[in-house]
Amino acid sequence: MIARPAGDRCAPSMLETSRLRLRQHMPEDAQPIARLIDNWNVVRWLSQVPFPYTHADAVKWIDQCYRTWAEGREYQYVIVRRDDDRAIGHIGLTLERDSRSAEFGYWLGQPYWGQGFGGEAAMAVLGVGFRSLELDRISASSIADNHGSLQVLRRAGFVEVGRCRKAFQPQGRQLDVPVLVLDRGRFEAARRTP
Ligand SMILES: CC(C)(COP(=O)(O)OP(=O)(O)OC[C@H]1O[C@@H](n2cnc3c(N)ncnc32)[C@H](O)[C@@H]1OP(=O)(O)O)[C@@H](O)C(=O)NCCC(=O)NCCS
Repeated sequence: MIARPAGDRCAPSMLETSRLRLRQHMPEDAQPIARLIDNWNVVRWLSQVPFPYTHADAVKWIDQCYRTWAEGREYQYVIVRRDDDRAIGHIGLTLERDSRSAEFGYWLGQPYWGQGFGGEAAMAVLGVGFRSLELDRISASSIADNHGSLQVLRRAGFVEVGRCRKAFQPQGRQLDVPVLVLDRGRFEAARRTP
């Protein structure tokens, strides 16, 4: 049984950055999400995602997001552009058993790479982790040659602390991947860095 965050610690259901809105999923997000993630260039970097990815997979995922949010176990956001509310990706935190730490994960549809959206969304959700949920640490892992993701993580203040063996469902194999960790101090320092 995973402990719920104590007291009033809970994540906001919506966040805004300069160009993005991060909000809880809605049923109509299933179609754009399925279309964007059913792409080998996206899923090859992800651990627990079926491939090919169908509309039914997205509906199931959205149901799971509602349930785990209500249980206080996960805070998963769909990333949409503020100007047109178009879903462009996903980002979220999965609490560890102690509810003082969480695992961070994210992806963007390929047309939206390289425009700073990943870093912008990451800083917002990491802020939820340290400020709203009062976590002590957030971890992430990334395939070693996923240079874009590792750069997003390092810019946010994550540091590599070791490696772990992790199953990558789309690739149908386990890989030895770097594990990175962020604490509140390094996150706040990264926020102050232009
Ligand atoms: C990882 C991902 C979210 C990055 O998002 P993004 O919006 O493209 O990244 P940004 O534009 O915010 O770039 C952030 C930094 O990474 C760098 N970067 C982005 N893509 C890069 C690449 N392929 N190689 C090297 N550096 C890259 C940018 O230059 C930028 O560097 P800077 O902060 O020094 O200016 C996106 O590429 C993606 O969804 N990839 C597929 C899924 C995935 O890998 N998810 C993460 C699994 S751990």
